Amino acid sequence: MADKKARLMVDGIDDPIELPVYSGTEGPDVVDVRPLSAKGLFTYDPGFVATAACESSITYIDGDKGILLHRGYPIEQLAEKSDYLEVCYLLLNGELPTAEEKAQFVDIVMHHTMVHEQISYFFRGFRRDAHPMAIMVACVGALSAFYHDSLDINDPYHREVCAFRLIAKMPTLAAMCYKYSIGQPFMYPRNDLGYAENFLRMMFGTPCEEYQANPVLAKAMDLIFLLHADHEQNASTSTVRLAGSSGANPFACIASGIAALWGPAHGGANEAVLAMLQEIGDESRIPEFIKRAKDPDDSFRLMGFGHRVYHNFDPRAKVLKASCDQVLTELGIENDPLLKIATRLEQVALEDDYFVKRKLYPNVDFYSGIIMKAIGIPTSMFTVIFALARTIGWISHWSEFHSSPNRIGRPRQLYTGQHKRDYPG
Ligand code: CMC
Repeated sequence: MADKKARLMVDGIDDPIELPVYSGTEGPDVVDVRPLSAKGLFTYDPGFVATAACESSITYIDGDKGILLHRGYPIEQLAEKSDYLEVCYLLLNGELPTAEEKAQFVDIVMHHTMVHEQISYFFRGFRRDAHPMAIMVACVGALSAFYHDSLDINDPYHREVCAFRLIAKMPTLAAMCYKYSIGQPFMYPRNDLGYAENFLRMMFGTPCEEYQANPVLAKAMDLIFLLHADHEQNASTSTVRLAGSSGANPFACIASGIAALWGPAHGGANEAVLAMLQEIGDESRIPEFIKRAKDPDDSFRLMGFGHRVYHNFDPRAKVLKASCDQVLTELGIENDPLLKIATRLEQVALEDDYFVKRKLYPNVDFYSGIIMKAIGIPTSMFTVIFALARTIGWISHWSEFHSSPNRIGRPRQLYTGQHKRDYPG
């Protein structure tokens, strides 16, 4: 029900067009522009700068204040008091679990970790130096060829089973990508371990000896998963929703999300941050790169800086900065040269007028890359880890879309091509 109305006067149309205005629980009001199409008008908003493409009750961001809430809970509190699998439960179900519900959820997820053995043969078709995101797009899409028993998108039970499978199998597939790239045997999951411990073991363990994850690193890994779990209607989540709107199966939809995440303007930024720090190479070269970032004729941007929604410190970055310090102290690498460049770069940018005026602050990718590098994760795996963690957000939005009346997403366009013309001759 509309709380208010907007009236739009358009040249050539006599009466004002009445548009309903809705208020959410938080955030700006939205003008329902659907009546415009009956008047022969479309709205125009490339990049979705002022367009709410859906109604959602999962995540809320106030970019000016630097606030991120999952189901109402501030990210800082979740980071301090919760863990990744609990946040998965929260995002999927809307409420925090009781102790019993949590234990049951963890047990179910941890008993879906193995992937069909046939999937391991797919890897052999890839070059060893293939980008792991390319393998992830392929393997996650291919899951739909294996789990036929959960593909009825109209059945809430099937949707739930798909969510369990995806959350559980992403770490296994991600670690398989890494093992394949270095020629080591795949490590089967261990369901008695915690989610992050199991991932670290599949990444760094070998069948030759026992692997014990360092608890500080496992905690940092879990935190990285938690902080990347969801971020409302970003490019990859919107891609998943749009793919889902056609009725495509969930594994295919998540594969489309992984593809959208890969780009350097989105999830690929954590990899790009490390590449940039390596390219800078020495603190003395920071001014040169800052100058390039400010030059409108140079396409170079400071990776890990700026955000479409946050015009304030990214709250996830604040939490990760603290975790970054802990990890580096634990590993005794506080003097890492790349970290020194990162710290100095951050200082310089935060004091520079160009960045201050445009409200360009470090985002989550600035610190996650530094932590992951310290843990020993190669840069090419950074975006894969983002995809692993974001899978819960994607599947929660996909489920939300299918849980209420919906229709296929079909944007329109401002056509600027040729008028109708005849084929010559
Ligand atoms: N370095 C230098 N200048 C920048 C940067 C940057 N990182 N980001 C934005 N600007 C400038 C931009 O040139 C423009 O200046 P002007 O007004 O003079 O033309 C102004 O700031 C606004 O930028 P925009 O391109 O209109 O902003 P956007 O909302 O379209 O882009 C962004 C957001 C994240 C793509 C962009 O800030 C960027 O490319 N950042 C670097 C990549 C990055 O770190 N991405 C990770 C985002 S967080 C994780 C995620 O959600 O995936």
